[in-house]
Amino acid sequence: MLQKQERQWWQLGVKRVAVGCLLISVPLFYALSTIQINFNTTELPVPLSCSSRTGQSSSRENTNSSQQDNTVCAPKVDIMFMKTHKTASSTFINILLRFGEKHNLKFAFPNSRNDFYYPSSFQRTYVQGYQSGRCFNIMCNHMRFNAPEVAKVLPRDTFYTTILRDPAELFESSFHYFGHVVPLTWWIPGEDKMAKFLRDPKQYFSPGGFSSFYLKNLLFFDFGQDNTLDADDQRVEDSIRVIAERFHLVMLMEHFEESLILLKDALCWEMDDILFFKLNSRMKSTVPKLTPELREKALQWNSIDWKLYKHFNLTFWEKVEAYGRKQMEEDVEELRRRNAELVKICIEGGHSVEAGSIHDAAMQPWQPVGEKSIEGYNLNRNVDKAYEELCRKMLTPEIQYLTDLGVNLWLTKLWGRVRKIINW
Ligand SMILES: *[C@@H]1O[C@H](CO)[C@@H](O)[C@H](O)[C@H]1NC(C)=O
Ligand SMILES: *[C@@H]1O[C@H](CO)[C@@H](O)[C@H](O)[C@H]1NC(C)=O
Repeated sequence: MLQKQERQWWQLGVKRVAVGCLLISVPLFYALSTIQINFNTTELPVPLSCSSRTGQSSSRENTNSSQQDNTVCAPKVDIMFMKTHKTASSTFINILLRFGEKHNLKFAFPNSRNDFYYPSSFQRTYVQGYQSGRCFNIMCNHMRFNAPEVAKVLPRDTFYTTILRDPAELFESSFHYFGHVVPLTWWIPGEDKMAKFLRDPKQYFSPGGFSSFYLKNLLFFDFGQDNTLDADDQRVEDSIRVIAERFHLVMLMEHFEESLILLKDALCWEMDDILFFKLNSRMKSTVPKLTPELREKALQWNSIDWKLYKHFNLTFWEKVEAYGRKQMEEDVEELRRRNAELVKICIEGGHSVEAGSIHDAAMQPWQPVGEKSIEGYNLNRNVDKAYEELCRKMLTPEIQYLTDLGVNLWLTKLWGRVRKIINW
């Protein structure tokens, strides 16, 4: 008995040391790899647009306001997607990667990992192959948002979008997905650490704690703001206003289809462009339900994010109203119908399966530390040839898709291997 406990302690210790080493080595590697970029000389202005269809109008101003008449409207291709955590953003990324491939667009990708050195504040030098004045169409990997630096990478006509989620649900998801890498959770006693934490957060939380931002106002933090402010602080209000001015469309995870329809309308895309399968979702059995009491506490604890969410919920429904409720219902129905058709065509058994049942390594999703809770899919064995490529792309998890697009992910992959070796 004692021996077993001792062994577990040892294993845990080794794992923590491994994480520590990796986390410390990352900024070091980064510093070494960027030294040569930092003495950049002349600055060129960003282009006005990086669409190759110059001369063609990309707005609807002269189309006589008819919804049907889409012929004059060229799809908009310069896009900044601020990828927030635990908000279905992996599903959305798949849409963007497919769109980019289809139109042969230039992505501003990170170098060595699948994020822009999160949680460091974004710097343009984090972009692989960055040069001032160069054309990039799309940026969509995780970053801590930093508006002036982002604006130096993307053209001036870029469409900014992002996605939010109910902060109580987001907190639950983040707590369980990232809890293992936030040291302050290690000392919370008991089985249900989240409940324990929420009932007295101040006892466990410290703003300076390593990776503690995963457990408090994570959305606000992702936008580059101070997540430990008091929700009544004037700076919170001001930041929300600045975010609202910068982002043309703020989507909501709870209304994912409606969000995509609004996006399609704003960007002049087609229904084909926004078809999707839900990627990177958890097994139902591993998703704990928040009791009303804990939900209330989670909202209180994440009160800045709650403010942010309520603000953009309001503007979201104003946009739906402007689009037309009836039209929205019809479009959502069509999108669901087409997605369901594709499920039948592409997915073996018509549903997601747990990691152990996925045959093809190319379809294996990335797992949180210490678990195998994220589900994935098996491609149908006899897919109609006409659909095979689309099916494959729609089902490919983010890391594999980025690799297919030529993104250098050596650090992410090294981390994956370390985890495999220590069986985490
Ligand atoms: C819109 O169409 C109507 C009738 O088809 C026409 O009279 C009007 O001039 C058009 N407006 C614009 C801005 O093209
Ligand atoms: C979001 O807005 C809708 C429509 O105005 C409203 O019914 C709903 O209660 C709002 N939700 C939140 C969380 O504010």
